Amino acid sequence: MHRLYTRSPIAKIMWGIVSSLVGIIVLLMVLVSENPRMEAQTINWEGRSIENGAKLFADNCLICHGPNGQGILGKGPALNSYYFFTETGRLKDVDWTGTLEDYVKLTIAAGRPSKVESQYPEVMPTWGGQFGGPMRGDQVVDLTLYVMNWEESALAQTPDEDPFQPFEDVIRLVEFQNTAFILMSEEEQAAALEEYRSRFFRSPQTIWESEACFACHNLEVNQVDYAGQNGPNFADLHERAGSRVADMTAEEYVYESIVSPRAFIVETYEEVGQMPQNFAEKLSEDEIQALVAWLLNPDREITEEE
Ligand code: HEC
Ligand code: HEC
Repeated sequence: MHRLYTRSPIAKIMWGIVSSLVGIIVLLMVLVSENPRMEAQTINWEGRSIENGAKLFADNCLICHGPNGQGILGKGPALNSYYFFTETGRLKDVDWTGTLEDYVKLTIAAGRPSKVESQYPEVMPTWGGQFGGPMRGDQVVDLTLYVMNWEESALAQTPDEDPFQPFEDVIRLVEFQNTAFILMSEEEQAAALEEYRSRFFRSPQTIWESEACFACHNLEVNQVDYAGQNGPNFADLHERAGSRVADMTAEEYVYESIVSPRAFIVETYEEVGQMPQNFAEKLSEDEIQALVAWLLNPDREITEEE
């Protein structure tokens, strides 16, 4: 028996198979026990990453997004917000089909250099090195994890507690997509829009800059008409506005020039340049009124900082 056991080739083969099987089983057991260990390590690593993110946030983002991410009116939107985290909220309004985590990461890395669609006077800066910002990739990841870490507290907010303030681009979406809005009468729609917009009153100078009036008009005395610029010079607008159109005061004329520029086209500009047609939709009534007064006031104040 003993001899047969060691010498038979079949027995040797059997022994070989059994020992390989044992080897495989041991290997599998090690792998299985390794999994929880790796998970524990990931949690640990994430924890440290979130801590780093918290420091980076305090140093770089708090001035605009507020301590604890609840947003600062006129500076930056709330991120620690039910609307921001819920599936039918922010992501749906901006038509983003990816995950919120990717949205946050990309926004931090790339920033939002354009402010055409935004009520915020300052833009969201670019942070990621690959887009020319000051941060490394791992710092962007740390910040992303820190922001995502608000999910639980944000989703626990009631509508009253949610610090979110609507974006201007959301308001525009409300105009076209919101069912409640579509069902309103025309007057109700106009009132609802006016109500939204008046919550985000922008000063004439902010509009002058953010709607790029300055790209085609000049407020300075020394500008030669459309030398470089593509619309009339406004240094003497207060002197000529009242006599452009018969029976129109300066205020009425400037108002009309902004909301329906086609009504009267200044001579020699028919071919030269086009005043945008959509300011009536983009600006609130109060903003237009303030802008008209500002344009017609030769002593208007201009702040350097804005
Ligand atoms: C100078 C002010 C400012 C600073 C500093 C700033 N942000 Fe922003 N951030 C903004 C503004 C303004 C917006 C909204 C831009 C827009 O209108 O689309 C924004 C948008 C965002 C959004 C997207 C919000 C949304 O609902 O679409 C995220 C995420 C964000 N910021 C994260 C950060 C992080 C993280 C930092 C720090 C590294 C930071 N921001 C620093 C002003 C700022
Ligand atoms: C793309 C260039 C462009 C931009 C941007 C632009 N305008 Fe104009 N604007 C013109 C041109 C060209 C005219 C002259 C033709 C006409 O009367 O429509 C004009 C005419 C006017 C007039 C009448 C001036 C006069 O002498 O009778 C007013 C007032 C005016 N714009 C205000 C504004 C304001 C306020 C903004 C920003 C909110 C703005 N424009 C942005 C090109 C522009």
